[in-house]
Amino acid sequence: MSEAIHWYPGHMTKAKRAMQEDIKLIDIVIELLDARAPLSSRNPDIDRLGQGKARLILLNKSDLSDASVNKRWEAYFKGKGYFVLSVDARNNGTMKPVLKRIEDACREKIERDRKRGIINRPIRAMIVGIPNVGKSTLVNSIAKKACTKVGNKPGVTKGKQWIRLSKNVELLDTPGILWPKFEDQQVGRHLAMIGSINDQILPMTELAAELVDFFRKNDCNDACERYNISTEKDAYEVLSDIAVQRKALKKGGEPDIDKAALLVFDDFRSGRLGRISLEQP
Ligand code: G4P
Repeated sequence: MSEAIHWYPGHMTKAKRAMQEDIKLIDIVIELLDARAPLSSRNPDIDRLGQGKARLILLNKSDLSDASVNKRWEAYFKGKGYFVLSVDARNNGTMKPVLKRIEDACREKIERDRKRGIINRPIRAMIVGIPNVGKSTLVNSIAKKACTKVGNKPGVTKGKQWIRLSKNVELLDTPGILWPKFEDQQVGRHLAMIGSINDQILPMTELAAELVDFFRKNDCNDACERYNISTEKDAYEVLSDIAVQRKALKKGGEPDIDKAALLVFDDFRSGRLGRISLEQP
């Protein structure tokens, strides 16, 4: 790609500091990744920040990614010592398996506490992730199903709200925001494709052409059929065809490939092109 994706991490500093404080209060870090691009949507700094905590990785938006690739990612992260689960944060049914995995991941800690005579101390959890991975959606789904809001707790940082998920588990209601690792241009491109970066700063047409090539190379059948992607046509010709077909035309009647690019992103991000994973382990 000729044009670099620029990113200004200044406003992330405040979020980082807030998260460092919150992390002190918790036993388990629940890290949300986008199942379509788990590596690009992950900031490895969380390994340092979350040192000494139990760790659970949720591959969110797994309804949009390839189910067999999800399984492979689960095995990949499990192999690295994390507890893992593929989820769809919008689905209220997600709560039960998540809760079980939190308890599994904290079993050692509960056992340690028990041996030291500490019983019935709830496990405290926090959700973290880069923008747009579905943190608020998950907190909302969980809160709807949760037993109660615990409210401000004496002895815990003032103003913190905890949602009681079960007798044993409480969740901090404000998720921690991680910053994407933008030094890597590939990461930037994948995050742009899944809609995690503001479109306005990106060469969207170029990215859409790249996505069309990805569909072709990876035999994404639904996408290839819908856009009639053949081996003879290059990605820009495909975009031009899409523009004509969807009546995205300039004033003189010329196909508007910039508009077509946005249509492609809209189709891809909403799952209309089938379940597609951009990254594989
Ligand atoms: P954040 O707090 O991490 O920044 O993310 P947020 O929950 O705001 O979610 C970002 C977008 O992703 C939302 O869509 C949300 O509905 C969608 N989303 C979250 N989890 C899932 C999931 O598991 N599957 C799918 N398919 N989508 C998910 P939006 O278009 O920005 O908002 P809205 O149209 O849903 O209101």
